[in-house]
Amino acid sequence: MKLFVDTGDLEEVRQAAEWGILDGVTTNPTLIAKTGKGFRETVLKICELVPNGDISAEVVATDYDTMLKEALEISSWNPQIVVKVPLIEPGIRLVSTLADKGIRTNVTLVFSLSQALMAAKAGATYISNFVGRVDDMSDDGMDAVVDTVRMVQEYGFESEVLVASVRHPLHVVQAIQAGAHVSTMPLKIMQMLFKHPLTDSGLKRFLDDWNAAGLSIFEKASV
Ligand code: G3P
Repeated sequence: MKLFVDTGDLEEVRQAAEWGILDGVTTNPTLIAKTGKGFRETVLKICELVPNGDISAEVVATDYDTMLKEALEISSWNPQIVVKVPLIEPGIRLVSTLADKGIRTNVTLVFSLSQALMAAKAGATYISNFVGRVDDMSDDGMDAVVDTVRMVQEYGFESEVLVASVRHPLHVVQAIQAGAHVSTMPLKIMQMLFKHPLTDSGLKRFLDDWNAAGLSIFEKASV
């Protein structure tokens, strides 16, 4: 499964990229607005920090003509860019147009299987299925992910299912169990994926025993 970090913060991108496990970055208008910097410069710096990654950058118009202009502008900045498009009627029309031109898309704000069908049929590269925002409404956001993965497999769609609005490591585990292709998450959730208390206590014991024995990896060879 691919791992994307969901942020516009360059320091966070740098940190996740250093681990060597990052496959891409997703941004949205809210995350870009938080940076206090320009959209183009932020997206291009992210591309530099993750040179082989897919970097999602979102259009902000809601009418087809302006969305198309924005999409063509954004996609011209760097071939790594995947144009993020909201799941509204002109958005689906835009995804079809961009697919015909070979421009990759990430359809966002997808909450249901019927919406996912529209995105898949239009030729979306990624279908961003939001889970946390559905859980917030005391529903199970992962249900649509399970159904969408099954739909993509059964009908042979080329779209990849991207689990977004990830709020905790269990969402990541459930995304893997559902067979989703990608999970995107804030850096703090990605950091939590490393953690296990038995790792910490186990490492402490190894090091305490080693140090108590006075050992060193760099000791001089005995004569
Ligand atoms: O980029 C979309 C996304 O992952 C949103 O997450 O936490 O704002 O629901 P959240």
